[in-house]
Amino acid sequence: MQVIADIAPLREQILQWRREGQRIAFVPTMGHLHDGHLTLVRKAREAADVVVVSIFVNPMQFEKADDLASYPRTMDEDLSKLNAEGVEIVFTPSVEVMYPNGMDQHTFVDVPGLSTILEGSSRPGHFKGVATVVSKLFNMVQPDVACFGEKDFQQLAVINKLVADLCLPIDIMPVATVREMDGLAMSSRNTRLTVDERQRAPVLSKTLRWISSQMRGGRTDYSELVLDGNDQLRAAGLEPDEIFIRDALTLQPITEQTTKAVVLAAAFLGQVRLIDNLTVDITPPTPSSSEEEEEEEE
Ligand code: PAF
Repeated sequence: MQVIADIAPLREQILQWRREGQRIAFVPTMGHLHDGHLTLVRKAREAADVVVVSIFVNPMQFEKADDLASYPRTMDEDLSKLNAEGVEIVFTPSVEVMYPNGMDQHTFVDVPGLSTILEGSSRPGHFKGVATVVSKLFNMVQPDVACFGEKDFQQLAVINKLVADLCLPIDIMPVATVREMDGLAMSSRNTRLTVDERQRAPVLSKTLRWISSQMRGGRTDYSELVLDGNDQLRAAGLEPDEIFIRDALTLQPITEQTTKAVVLAAAFLGQVRLIDNLTVDITPPTPSSSEEEEEEEE
């Protein structure tokens, strides 16, 4: 496994692989790797001949300095995990390599609409930072395929739009959320939870499952469902940040055309902000069942 920190030697190796006709898969990460990341790496391996993983804690996507400073950095452990997975290259650029002239005057990539709604409205600039760094990394690695976790549902939507709008020749491969035995979605932030917070954390996924089951059971009073969900989080000692029920394709409010919805939730446990989501198939009413309802109303 090669660990490369600069752009020139990375490009050299990529060029050689291209000449040899190798298919390249890419997994961008911010490190502190867990089984969720390793699942992305294994999916990448299945999709290509060679795998490149990047580890870069991107300051442009953090809105709070203390969140950036406290983001866990575990490079040695990360490298041994990736070595065990047989990854060909780990790209570990410094902030100076990625932003040699600072970030203030840096060109950015903004994905309109998707970047400012939902999580983007409570974290202004976050998705702009993600879209910019992912575009830069795509230009450096030039992968054929790139893997992203569905846990960051809105991020995945932003990346899909970015790739489509900019005509990038990259297949984006979504990978299902990997969960702990008690349902908690794996996240690098989980290790910052205290023992007590960790015990309460699975309530987030439990609440999402409850909302989904209510929707599958036919409830369409989404605002009420969100309030009920917030109550469940508060009762377990979590501070709800946001719960949204949206069309999974557009991330807009659910309409009659919606066939798949997504429930997106974020909540604080102490200083740690956890996010999770679940998709729910929405079965449109069959003509016969709507007729029955109309008859009943008459
Ligand atoms: O999901 C992440 O870890 C980050 O947002 C990403 C995609 C590596 C960009 O910094």
